[in-house]
Amino acid sequence: MRLTDEEKAMRDGRDGEAVARAMDLLIRYGQALGAEDFVETRNVCGTYTASTPFMRDFALAKSRESQKNPPSSQSSSLAAAQDASDLQDESGLDAVYSEFNLDSTQVVSVPKVKAFSSHLQLGFDPHHPVEMGVTPEIVQFYRRSEAMAARRGVQMLNTCTPYQVGNLPTYGEHCAWMESSAVVYINSVLGARTNCEGRESTSAAMLTCRIPNWGYHLDEPRLATVAVDLDITIDSVEDWGLLGYWMGDWVQDQVAVIDGLRATPNMPRLKHFGAAASSSGGVELFHIVGVTPDARSREQALGGRKPVELRRYGARERAETFARINATGKDREVDYVMLGCPHYTIEQIWEAAQLIEGRRVHENCALWIFTPGAIKAMADRNGYTRIIEKAGGKIMTDSCSAMSRAVPPGTRVVALDSAKQAHYLPAILGVQAWFGTTAQCIDAACTGRWQVMA
Ligand code: F3S
Repeated sequence: MRLTDEEKAMRDGRDGEAVARAMDLLIRYGQALGAEDFVETRNVCGTYTASTPFMRDFALAKSRESQKNPPSSQSSSLAAAQDASDLQDESGLDAVYSEFNLDSTQVVSVPKVKAFSSHLQLGFDPHHPVEMGVTPEIVQFYRRSEAMAARRGVQMLNTCTPYQVGNLPTYGEHCAWMESSAVVYINSVLGARTNCEGRESTSAAMLTCRIPNWGYHLDEPRLATVAVDLDITIDSVEDWGLLGYWMGDWVQDQVAVIDGLRATPNMPRLKHFGAAASSSGGVELFHIVGVTPDARSREQALGGRKPVELRRYGARERAETFARINATGKDREVDYVMLGCPHYTIEQIWEAAQLIEGRRVHENCALWIFTPGAIKAMADRNGYTRIIEKAGGKIMTDSCSAMSRAVPPGTRVVALDSAKQAHYLPAILGVQAWFGTTAQCIDAACTGRWQVMA
């Protein structure tokens, strides 16, 4: 790869061992991708902390190892930790970071991030350890890991939707984000530029402000190659989830342009659409004529070329997709209703609060709603949390059932308003899933039964 003087200096250790390893990782990654150079990025979203039992065990083992051996036998940077308590506190966490974020078996001390870096969702909600099935020890370990990340400059947004709580990339901004639903949203709706990165590449980007210049950072791969013509009105969140699920299944990782919209979607609708498309397929970018910034016209989205394939989406496609998403739903007794995939907006919490106010969650059912911590603070302030909790539901943050693999004990049947979660939960936990509208889900929570719409 072609490196600038700045990149060579980082690679050669000017900014310390961790940054050198980050550059080395990015160079190897870029070479494997065929990238010729790097783009600069000041906006990274990744996973910095250790919230899984495996990482905790790994870190604790490394920490014990470091305490047994004198500092002289460890890397010089570790030995240079500020004081003994710092070493004891952070050596295990540095070990996790070195191994899992920088692909380095040697433990290096990790400096502050250079790029504006945001943390994505976690493996559990630390505010609800009992529901998440995690011990106080794990929560305590996570808290240390979070404090370390914050000290090193990472913004603890802890959500799959950073764009709704303080990290809203601008049009054309080069980013390095992971989390498929967030990637497809910022690429498509905001016109930012990112590929779907991983834990290692985002961590290296946090320390270097660099990411390989390939894929959706370039102009050509961002053009649509296939097209969808709509024959029906796409209006509700459910409609958008179904269209996304159908489209992803068809296009896989191709870029599609959608034409024929009769109603303008808002943020929650586009959030659900992209999340569904990136679940049934590998969609990281889409265009919608008249809605997304690179599709003022169909011709613009296609770069003046004809689509290699054109498909129509109508009532039949919608019905078939609906049946496919609901394929695992058999029993009508619902044990658990999960809302908030991707994490709910304040508008969606407001809607849920209005739907459930004055009602009660059925004694055989549970209702959990997932949202970013910052949105939960707004819901608290607006009284929505009180309404939902009074009804017997819970608002949780930082994670979700698919990420945490946590559902109420004994759950066999779930109800969801998210095509993405309906795609993953049966596969991950072997439960049955019903997919429908938010109103249907709230009804299921309050009656304990799934009503099939006529
Ligand atoms: Fe977010 Fe979990 Fe869905 S992390 S996109 S709520 S699977």
